[in-house]
Amino acid sequence: MELPKGKESTQELLDAQTHIWNHIFKFINTMSLKCAIQLDIPNIIHKHGKPMTLTELTDALLIGKTKSQYVSCLMRLLVHSNFFIKANRVPRLNHLFNEAMASDSGLVHLVLLKNSKQLFGGFESLVDVGGGTGAMTRAISEAFPEPKCTVLDLPHVVAGLKGTENLSFLEGDMFEAIPHADVVLLKWILHDWNDEDSVRILKKCKDAISNKKDKGGKVIIIDMILNNHGGGDKVIEDQLFYGMAMMAYVDGKERTEEEWAKLFFYAGFSSYKIALELGVRSLIEVYP
Ligand SMILES: C[S@@+](CC[C@H](N)C(=O)[O-])C[C@H]1O[C@@H](n2cnc3c(N)ncnc32)[C@H](O)[C@@H]1O
Repeated sequence: MELPKGKESTQELLDAQTHIWNHIFKFINTMSLKCAIQLDIPNIIHKHGKPMTLTELTDALLIGKTKSQYVSCLMRLLVHSNFFIKANRVPRLNHLFNEAMASDSGLVHLVLLKNSKQLFGGFESLVDVGGGTGAMTRAISEAFPEPKCTVLDLPHVVAGLKGTENLSFLEGDMFEAIPHADVVLLKWILHDWNDEDSVRILKKCKDAISNKKDKGGKVIIIDMILNNHGGGDKVIEDQLFYGMAMMAYVDGKERTEEEWAKLFFYAGFSSYKIALELGVRSLIEVYP
């Protein structure tokens, strides 16, 4: 084979080879993502609750010692494809994620407090489980100054956050314990988790409102209900996109009303009511 004459045409040839290889091997991106999901890597890192070193990750994987050496290669590609972020960039991501959540909560609380004051009135205590930096509960505590409100989240999310007279932040793990309250709020939490973990969280919520059993204790869930809307194509498409994203990134899922009802039943709740539609999401009240 003869090389074409001139520097530029040689470069063109090399670029062409790179281009062809890039297309031939593109499928490795999807295969690597599949591999990461099969190994439960997103879930393992998520449950770790803070950045994980490669050694910690490798130790947590259910793979033999001989395969451990390949984890770095897999993770390098997945970081390059932006499925994972390399530490030092993580704190910024954590901050961005919390900001995005807070901004969403800002919108939701405006709609909620405008339309449905009765949802959050008439209670003495509320705990916002996985409440992030507390944007939603801060708004509730300002609108209803009497009840004691608590935001429970992982240490790296709530560390150093200042509360007010009726709002406090609590570092903790919702799988371990949720403090007693009249109302437990789960906004955008359960779609992050598979059915088994969601039932575990819901059981902890039920324990938390157990003192209020016959006196109005309830769990308020803000999440999507698939196919439960009068919205158009965009609503349906958003819900389907979210379903794929939750499945791929965090082993979670979006659920139909029947799937929600099953979760409530397995966690030991007696009934529920879809109290409000919030765009692509709904507000569900669940009773012990
Ligand atoms: C999707 S965000 C929702 C935040 C907030 N509820 C909102 O809607 O703005 C999920 C939250 O759950 C928190 N979280 C994850 N695992 C947790 C655990 N084991 N215990 C408590 N909070 C947890 C995350 O730190 C994050 O703030």
